[in-house]
Amino acid sequence: MDIKELVKTYKTPLYIYDINELINRVNYIKEKINPAKIVYAVKANTFIIKEIDEHVDKYEICSEGEFDICNKLNINHNKMVISGVNKDEEYVKKLISNYDIGRYTIESMMHYEYLSKYSKKYNKKINVLIRLTSGNQFGVSEEDFEYIIKNYDKKYINICGIEYFSGTQKHSIKRIEKEINYINEFVSKIKNEYDFTLDEVEYGPGLPVMYYQGDEFDEEEYFKELNDLIKSINAKTVLIESGRSIVASSGKYVTSVVDLKKNQNGNFAIVDGGINHIVYYGSTLSMKTPCFDLISNGKESDVYNIFGSLCTTNDVLLKNVNINKLSIGDIFIFNKVGAYSSTEGISLFLSRNLPKIILYKDGKSRLIRDIIKTSEINFPDYRE
Ligand SMILES: Cc1ncc(COP(=O)(O)O)c(C=O)c1O
Repeated sequence: MDIKELVKTYKTPLYIYDINELINRVNYIKEKINPAKIVYAVKANTFIIKEIDEHVDKYEICSEGEFDICNKLNINHNKMVISGVNKDEEYVKKLISNYDIGRYTIESMMHYEYLSKYSKKYNKKINVLIRLTSGNQFGVSEEDFEYIIKNYDKKYINICGIEYFSGTQKHSIKRIEKEINYINEFVSKIKNEYDFTLDEVEYGPGLPVMYYQGDEFDEEEYFKELNDLIKSINAKTVLIESGRSIVASSGKYVTSVVDLKKNQNGNFAIVDGGINHIVYYGSTLSMKTPCFDLISNGKESDVYNIFGSLCTTNDVLLKNVNINKLSIGDIFIFNKVGAYSSTEGISLFLSRNLPKIILYKDGKSRLIRDIIKTSEINFPDYRE
């Protein structure tokens, strides 16, 4: 990939999603979690959904907006898992009346009520997973789970299984083991007490990504242990939900040096991007150095602080890095930003434009989203 050429064509700041890398990555994960199926959590990156379609079994969709994106991309409704903590009545009604959705998650008694009401109203049998909480705002308690198992209307609802996700970026296989043991115990309890088999376990392990220089992680070993645990799950079908680990490595964020200065605290470079466009999990004020590359002709090296274009002291991208001497126009490439950066960044701050997004595949680039002016979003409209 010739980043300099891409920058000439598209300008910075710029997101590049490398689709060949993405497909290699998803296939690597699939092989490692086999025989489990893979569910892509759309929230991590909505721009690569279509690219990944033939490689993933399902999509976890957490809002009406995510549904609309997938629907517009003609994603098969049967591959959709309509998840998310806030499913309002109109949304449930719209989905049940218009589409044959693969799975709905029940994450509250209100979801249960709406899903029961509209499946009956439209005389449709729907497939659901009940999400069991890990003690946070997501999912239902064991008591509510059991209430549903005892009381649901079998004519309109088919309970396929259980969904469980407790958090992201989990390095500890011990923690995953604990969670899987808990799921297994719960599945057995439901079998023993209600003679009810939960055929599917859809589990989000929060597969981790190593974002920072010096991070040490034996991913091969991690997946080996994970695979043994997956095989121990007490269900006909196991599905693994993942967002971050699938898509992070495919994304690059490219930003250029636009100003340079020096003061009593050292060298400062200002780039045309910023923390409004990048999210590195666990990074506060760049205490850790993310994986980055620099295109610069500088001969000697020096120590720099790299700041973005937001007028806040928080907008630090790199702190005290020893790099080639910088000139205006030099290019920084921040790696592993494929997950959550374009969807989770504080992108409206300071009314700076949203970057272009390009997909890069088989040596060719394609503009998939142009610049968006956030000044139009942040504008108070006084028209009557
Ligand atoms: C239910 C559920 N599944 C999967 C994910 C994806 O998590 P990750 O990106 O850590 O794989 C999330 C993320 O918030 C989630 O809420």
